[in-house]
Amino acid sequence: MTSPVAFDVENNIAWVRFNRPEKRNCMNPALNRRMMEVLDELEYRDDVRVLVLSGEGTSWSAGMDLKEYFRETEAKGIAATRAAQRDAYGWWRRLRWYQKPTIAMVNGWCFGGGYGPLFACDLAFAAEEAQFGLSEINWGILPGGGATKVVVDLLTMRDAMYHALTGEMIDGKKAAAWKLVNEAVPLADLKDRVTAVANLLIAKNPVALKATKDAVRRVGEMTYDNAEDYLVRAQEAANSYDNEGRKEGIRQFIDAKTYKPGLGAYDL
Ligand code: ACO
Repeated sequence: MTSPVAFDVENNIAWVRFNRPEKRNCMNPALNRRMMEVLDELEYRDDVRVLVLSGEGTSWSAGMDLKEYFRETEAKGIAATRAAQRDAYGWWRRLRWYQKPTIAMVNGWCFGGGYGPLFACDLAFAAEEAQFGLSEINWGILPGGGATKVVVDLLTMRDAMYHALTGEMIDGKKAAAWKLVNEAVPLADLKDRVTAVANLLIAKNPVALKATKDAVRRVGEMTYDNAEDYLVRAQEAANSYDNEGRKEGIRQFIDAKTYKPGLGAYDL
């Protein structure tokens, strides 16, 4: 049987793909379980510096599998339903706090439950041709699985409300204008653009990248004073992992004068 998740590692980038193109990459329990295994396998590999999540075929992900994730699982009862939710939410959470920076490369359809992994990725780039929708309302449920939280966190209240209540799709350009994704480019240019961004990240200190991505997610819900304290401690914790990195960064600027931190990364 074909694996529901495909991946390969090339030039320090792990290209992970939803791989049920015939089902528009909707997430069934088997895909969710396999995705966690793949994330486990890749997370601490030395040759993986950035993870990119995309989809095979015309879809990024058509959300949860209405047949296998909802109907068939619910028919088995509450224990099976909760287990399926744990598997799905589990790998999205894992991705939110992944050791390496992550990029969603949204090549096509992105619906409902797809907003979970979309938000979990640190950055998101979409094809202008991609289509995004909170289609839950179209089949009679609210946007669960974190999807409501995702749009409230990323969009204005008016846009989030309109998006959730109407179920209308937006294309990649509008998703970028609404800040659901960083940027939209024509589909033909998407992989090149994502590769360029991944290479920007690969040039940075990996310990600093992990500390920074966590800091951006954590401080949003803190008071200023709590954030200030957290950031001091987070930097001190990063120093204990990578005591030489920042000293080298300072040395190359102040002593060797080989680079300027305002203009790019030091030589790792
Ligand atoms: N759940 C289950 N099966 C799905 C899903 C899904 N989310 N999405 C697509 N499929 C299946 C179709 O049933 C079809 O199966 P079949 O070949 O056995 O008939 C196959 O994938 C291909 O789908 P089509 O609808 O034929 O593909 P098309 O390219 O015409 O349309 C589109 C793509 C628009 C994505 C359409 O499939 C669709 O609307 N899917 C559902 C999107 C959605 O609302 N997802 C749920 C969001 S809510 C949530 O995730 C909690």
